[in-house]
Parts: sequence; structure tokens; C-alpha cells
Amino acid sequence: MRVLAIETSCDETGLALVEGRLVDGPPRGKAGWFEFVVHKAALLSQAQLHAPYGGVYPNLAKREHQKNLPVLFAEFDGEAINAVVVTAGPGLEPALWTGITFAQELAARLGKPLFAANHMEAHLISSLCERRDGYSGILQNTRMPVLGLLISGGHTEFVHMRDWFQYQVIGETLDDAVGEAFDKVARMLDLPYPGGPEISKLATKHRQSEQGRTLLTLPRPMINSGTCDVSFSGLKTAALYALKDKKLSDDERAAFAAEFEDAVADVFVAKTRQALVTTGAKTFVIGGGVAANRYIRERLQQLALDEFPDVEFRLPHLSITGDNAIMIAEAALCHLLTGDWKEPPKEIKASGQLSIATE
Ligand code: KG4
Ligand code: ZN
Repeated sequence: MRVLAIETSCDETGLALVEGRLVDGPPRGKAGWFEFVVHKAALLSQAQLHAPYGGVYPNLAKREHQKNLPVLFAEFDGEAINAVVVTAGPGLEPALWTGITFAQELAARLGKPLFAANHMEAHLISSLCERRDGYSGILQNTRMPVLGLLISGGHTEFVHMRDWFQYQVIGETLDDAVGEAFDKVARMLDLPYPGGPEISKLATKHRQSEQGRTLLTLPRPMINSGTCDVSFSGLKTAALYALKDKKLSDDERAAFAAEFEDAVADVFVAKTRQALVTTGAKTFVIGGGVAANRYIRERLQQLALDEFPDVEFRLPHLSITGDNAIMIAEAALCHLLTGDWKEPPKEIKASGQLSIATE
């Protein structure tokens, strides 16, 4: 089965043509073993355009998606497909609508069914895949329950996946998403948007140099709250006060970036420990743009190795952590190939706050 997926929830315009098949095999009926072949994928990032605003500017995103979609689609025109799938949420509604409208017209023109995907489920499912060449993937032997830590510019949530397509959110941010905190603190350090990768570069430099003192200690919000919820606005404010009226040297900036990353990683390690115990998860996976962060990956990997040797930790390939349409296609294929999606929805609406939770 070949699906054409369209992703426009934020500041990336993505299109992908992915073929999926359900391979007979373990572990059992509903959804055991998928193979995905990415025939074509196109992705246009608007990050540079939004950089002067220090974040994504929704109407600009909408205009750019409208401009980019037909241009990117030209490469896909004429390809054989069985269905079209589009991200319906969560995300920026004006941006989501551009994808939905485009997908509706396309599906009508091709006479193919149109399905709606959840962006966060797509991050989760695509992160579970093993990637042969960075793109095409295989999804097999996933032991349930799965614990997913989804960390992006708009979301920070711990998801308990009891079984295929059954999700419960067991913890989330009470205020800012972690990616947003990275972006805002980066801005305080005069680093360009998106700030996550920039902070990560500086922090890595600091750790490698092993010199330069840590300027101060930032708080680890809610680390002992006893829940799986997190909060980043206090950390952001603490960073703001710590940097107020200070002129930092390059070494001091790098030390500050490392302390910020340490604070975030400490919180995720503590909360992941709690979530793994609470859920009894057999598989742990991280997904979303912030899952590209090298240091957070290493710290979580260490936690899994040291304290949860029986839990399988799946780290997403870096080609797939940021927003893209391949993940949308893969999630849709899982639903379609297992018969979980039969009829296309009668109506598709953009839903900015769409939750992954099914219970
Ligand atoms: O999933 P994503 O591409 O878009 C959303 O759905 O939000 O995530 C984007 C976020 C941005 O906040 C960006 O700064 C952050 O992911 N990010 C990182 C890294 N790479 C991207 N944050 C920390 N370290 C990174 N290496
Ligand atoms: Zn995302």
C-alpha cells in the first residue's frame, strides 16, 4: 500500500510517498511487523524566515506552506498511490489548514481516500522504527507496553502506549514545551532560532573543553514532585534573571548552555525513571525535535542501561526527529495495514490542541 503524506503543522512543509507492508511474523496479530519503503520525500524548512521573530509566526507559516505545497508536489505528480493522509493536529491551525485544503483537493482530483493523522502519534511510531538507510524502516517486535517521551517545540509529554493505538498521557508540561524553553534561552544568549541545536553545540563545546567554571546552578523544576509532569517556565525565568545585565564571555556562555542542558536532562532522567516504574514499560522510545539532542539521548541511554536493563530503549534516527511527512505516512500505514482505519473520515478539521490520548 502506497500513501502520500502531507505535513504542515508548524514551520516545515513535508511531503512523502511511502509504501508499507505488513510482514507475517511475530509477535502477534494486530500489528506485528511493518516494512516501510520511502520512495520519495520532500521537506522545506521555513526556520530561516521565522528566525527574526524568534519563533514560528503562524500567518507567515501559512503563506509559505501555500506557496511550497504545489512546488513540492510537482515531484510526486503521476505517482501511483492508494491513499492520501494529512496531519490534522496538533499544531498551528492556520498552517494545518493549508495542508488539509491541499490534501482535500488532491484526493478529490485523484479519486483516492483521504485520512487524517495525529502529529504526536506519528513522532512516536516513526521513532519506534529501525532505519536501514536513515529513511526506509522496519517496525518489529515492539514489546508492549511502550513508554514514549515526546519532546518538541510544542509538546512535552510522557505517553503510555498499552497496545497499538491505545494511548494515555501520564505526564506533561504544565507550561512551556521543552523545545520552546531551548529556543527562548537560546535567544537570551543571542543565538539564532531554532535555538535547541545552537545550545547543544555550545554545551558540547564546554564539556569537551573541560574548562570554564559553571556560572551558576539553575533549578530542576518539579524534579521531586512525585508525578511525571514537568515545568519549564521557572527554568526559563531563572535563566533570564541569571543573565540579566551580564556580559558573558564565550566560555561563560558555553558553560551556561551546558548548565541549562544539564538541568533539562536531570529532569528528564528523574521523570523517565518514575514513568518507567509506573507503567512497567518493556519498550522506551523518545521522539520529537528535541530527541535530536545528543546529551539528552546519552543521559537517557545511560539511565536505561544502568537501571532498566530489561527495557528496550529505541532511539530515533536523526533523520526523523524533526517534523517531516515520512512519519505521517508511517503512522497512517500502521492504522491502514492493520485494518484499524477502514473508512476515511467524512470531514477533516484542523485541531490545534488535538491530543494523542485515547483514554
Ligand atoms: O518536532 P519539531 O521539529 O517541531 C514541533 O513539532 O515542535 O521540534 C522543534 C523543536 C525546536 O524547539 C528546536 O529548537 C528543538 O526541537 N530542537 C532541539 C534540537 N534540535 C531541535 N532542541 C535541543 N537540542 C537539539 N539538538
Ligand atoms: Zn513535531
